[in-house]
Amino acid sequence: MSARPVFLFNSTPERATVFRKAFERELPAVGFADDPTTVDPDDVRYFITWEMPERLGRFRHLKVVFSIGAGVDQFAAASLAPEVSVVRMVEDGIIRMMQEYVTLAVLALHRDWSAYAGQQAAEVWRALPARQANDRRVGFLGFGMLAQAAMERLAPFGFPLAGWSRSPRSIEGVQCFQGADQLPEFLAQTDILVCLLPLTAETRGFLDAPLFARLPKGAALVHAGRGAQLNAAALLASLECGHLSAAILDVTDPEPLPRGDPLWRNPKVMVTPHVAGVTQPRTAARAVIENIRRFEAGQPMIGLVDRARGY
Ligand code: GLV
Repeated sequence: MSARPVFLFNSTPERATVFRKAFERELPAVGFADDPTTVDPDDVRYFITWEMPERLGRFRHLKVVFSIGAGVDQFAAASLAPEVSVVRMVEDGIIRMMQEYVTLAVLALHRDWSAYAGQQAAEVWRALPARQANDRRVGFLGFGMLAQAAMERLAPFGFPLAGWSRSPRSIEGVQCFQGADQLPEFLAQTDILVCLLPLTAETRGFLDAPLFARLPKGAALVHAGRGAQLNAAALLASLECGHLSAAILDVTDPEPLPRGDPLWRNPKVMVTPHVAGVTQPRTAARAVIENIRRFEAGQPMIGLVDRARGY
């Protein structure tokens, strides 16, 4: 039996090819395997996956489970031994894509893109009243690394930026709100709400009718968190009565969004198929290798999840 620890890979063959090369080149002390039947379960120390397979308990020496994506909510129901560390994917590729997506969505809403698309379909040439960026307040629900990276891109346009999180944060140039008490005040001064919250028991159904009602009339939503955070019927009702003006959704519940779902055809809604931030294999392999090095050196891993908190 080899004593070499094994990194077990469970994602697409395309990603496996890139990861395998990176491991062979950068971390030869750790074996790479993408077929569990080829390894001794006792050698598996590290595992990367999106969904947690059953029978993980057979890897008795498993130390770290890495999510192939930024979220770990899909692991919530898994019965993982308490001593196993869980790590979110924190890598440059996802961060850059999320910066692009949020910037694109905020600018599209700011410049009435969907209204102009509607006008084009009707062959209407009409300028809509324009607002300056410094008069369009952008508020983030969730203040993690992705939100902060997106804020960096938005700041140069001059949008007043705010963020709300569960626990206190302080970020230069961003008005920070925290906890349930400060949520109403945060919402009341948000024209474009960007949701990047992790999915937890507390955030399930968070985007609901009372929350929308607290936003100023004409506010818009960008949702790139998790589909289960959104009460879609409440969103459609708020758009229908003209309280909210538009929404850009990258996540839905379920995914894929079923054919015939009213979100597809609502002219005030734009749906993208969960593409805002997608793991890029080269940068992701680098991030995972760095984390394994850190773990083996007894240093804190980047993206380590607080398992009690769920993110
Ligand atoms: C996508 O949503 C991810 O978690 O990477």
